[in-house]
Amino acid sequence: MAYSEQVIDHYENPRNVGKMNDQDDNIGTGMVGAPACGDVMRLQIKVSDDGVIEDAKFKTYGCGSAIASSSLVTEWVKGMTLDQAQELKNTTIAEELALPPVKIHCSVLAEDAIKAAVADYKEKQAKK
Ligand code: FES
Ligand code: FES
Repeated sequence: MAYSEQVIDHYENPRNVGKMNDQDDNIGTGMVGAPACGDVMRLQIKVSDDGVIEDAKFKTYGCGSAIASSSLVTEWVKGMTLDQAQELKNTTIAEELALPPVKIHCSVLAEDAIKAAVADYKEKQAKK
């Protein structure tokens, strides 16, 4: 199966790989796994006081499409509000990366990860 140019670009030059301090109140962490293949993705967001995502980092143990999907999402969510980030659809990611049908679940992982990161951030705020 051939990877698209976009997948190869993100795979070879992943954006925003890294880790942020999970203990900080302004950090939301989403950690999700794909039952289909066992791949794991961690996506983190740093949120400003007025609810805008200032920074995003990811670490993905998985296939090229999963790495590309998470790399792309970290680029996209910077500058978004939490609501906007929560509305990100895997279909938009899959389209941008020209993912073939067998790799659609890789983009689902990225959608699930950003949703989980937003949920984690909101939970932390609620506990404050
Ligand atoms: Fe996910 Fe190969 S199936 S890395
Ligand atoms: Fe499973 Fe890509 S995340 S093959």
